[in-house]
Amino acid sequence: MITIKKPEEIELMAQAGRIVAGCFGEIEEILKPGVTTRQLDAKVNDYIKANGGIAAFKGYGGYPANICVSINEEVVHGIPGEREISEADLVSVDIGVLKNGYYGDSARSYLLPPGDPEKEKLLEVTRKALDKGIGMARAGNRLSDISFVIQDFVESYGYSVVRELVGHGIGKQMHEDPQIPNFGRPGNGPVLQPGMTLAIEPMVNIGTWKVETLEDKWTIVTKDKQPSAHFEHTIAITVNGPRILTIGN
Ligand code: MF3
Ligand code: CO
Repeated sequence: MITIKKPEEIELMAQAGRIVAGCFGEIEEILKPGVTTRQLDAKVNDYIKANGGIAAFKGYGGYPANICVSINEEVVHGIPGEREISEADLVSVDIGVLKNGYYGDSARSYLLPPGDPEKEKLLEVTRKALDKGIGMARAGNRLSDISFVIQDFVESYGYSVVRELVGHGIGKQMHEDPQIPNFGRPGNGPVLQPGMTLAIEPMVNIGTWKVETLEDKWTIVTKDKQPSAHFEHTIAITVNGPRILTIGN
């Protein structure tokens, strides 16, 4: 069941979302070659607690850390640990916060200096694919209009969208209905309405869309070990169009 949020609930979600956005500021301060993924996790957790929130992923389905950090061929759900970030790594960071009973969920990918043209292109296409998807999150559109525009844009660059993982409704729970695939034909699924709150999250691969799970039971990697990027925002559908909740004001 898709829950429609009242305006005051959307304001609470924006408070959670603002903390998530601030977490990325924390990441950006220390994301350099040599930093460990555990240091990123700890800094974000400190910031979330200092702002009266709770790291939403910790303990979710048994997940052992506060955030997900997925590097290069890792798509999502990389577990922070002693691994050091290296030059030219493509680092995808996924962060969820619970505050006042409501969730915010967002992800960003970063490319470490000195960069790499192929990874840079992948990152830009994935970021723009999220923008395109958000652009379709308007009352009167159908849910799969979001899915279609993401797939269509991504595949026009010869890249692929991951099929096994999807975006989702969000609110009082981190994962609510509906599921939001990053592929499909337009014009299907529920009609979008003001008050729907969605986490839209394209995961884009340079090569095959196929993925597999590592022995740690969490980390999802591309089957061909080529790089993957991930961007996500929590948004609300309003009468004035999509409102991004996981930004800083
Ligand atoms: N943003 C991811 C999602 O929407 C994060 C889940 S990680 C988990 O599913 F550890 F919490 F499972
Ligand atoms: Co999500």
